[in-house]
Amino acid sequence: MLPLPPLIGHRGAAGLAPENTLESFALAADLGCPMVEFDVRLSADRVPVVFHDDTLDRCTDGSGPVAALTLAQLKRLDAGGGQSIPTLTEVLALCRDRRLAVNIEIKPDVGAEAETARLALEIAGAVWPTDRPLPLVSSFSHRALASARQVAPHWPRGLLAERLPKNWRRLVDIYECKALNLDHSWLTATRVTEIKAAGLAVLAYTVNRRSRAEMLWFRGVLAVFSDRPDLLVRGEHSI
Ligand code: G3P
Ligand code: CA
Repeated sequence: MLPLPPLIGHRGAAGLAPENTLESFALAADLGCPMVEFDVRLSADRVPVVFHDDTLDRCTDGSGPVAALTLAQLKRLDAGGGQSIPTLTEVLALCRDRRLAVNIEIKPDVGAEAETARLALEIAGAVWPTDRPLPLVSSFSHRALASARQVAPHWPRGLLAERLPKNWRRLVDIYECKALNLDHSWLTATRVTEIKAAGLAVLAYTVNRRSRAEMLWFRGVLAVFSDRPDLLVRGEHSI
């Protein structure tokens, strides 16, 4: 077998368990992921919760915007398999106990990105053990990255993008990013080399085929996000 980049469990192990739930993160740990990625947004009463979509419909038995419900109301919903929507605090506690490194993605809720980053990083700063790798903070939102830089200047930041914007060098300078987290399908060898030559790490999302992960490793990608860490570890192929 060829080498694999380190695996980042995407929303835990989203292809195997209800995404962004405690069960999903525990499964990613069981499957040997050294790190997990999850999405953070705010409840109506401004509690950071771990949930991907801006609405509840796809992943719960509720409906409408996440930001319209309080934490108590969100907690009454089923996020799949009887799991509830976890708070950021709950997810960080599990990751601490399972010795998982973390990538906190701040979701770009229009108008709330900076507040989400601030509240999330204040919580993470209070509970994350100082003897563990610092959380990687990423976002598609430039406002969130600016807020993250202000609240936790020494924590690594990743600029998230489907593909590299033309002004990427300027953006990574402004937000003092250490990584570019990019859609894997766009990552040619030339592009990876160009980014690495600028001193940045390249992280690729979302990779569910072992052969693709191996190719990205040879191109110099530091780590890949996967919904199916089981397939990558065992060398099987998903459709
Ligand atoms: O962080 C990588 C990836 O999670 C970004 O896209 O839509 O899955 O949050 P999305
Ligand atoms: Ca994400």
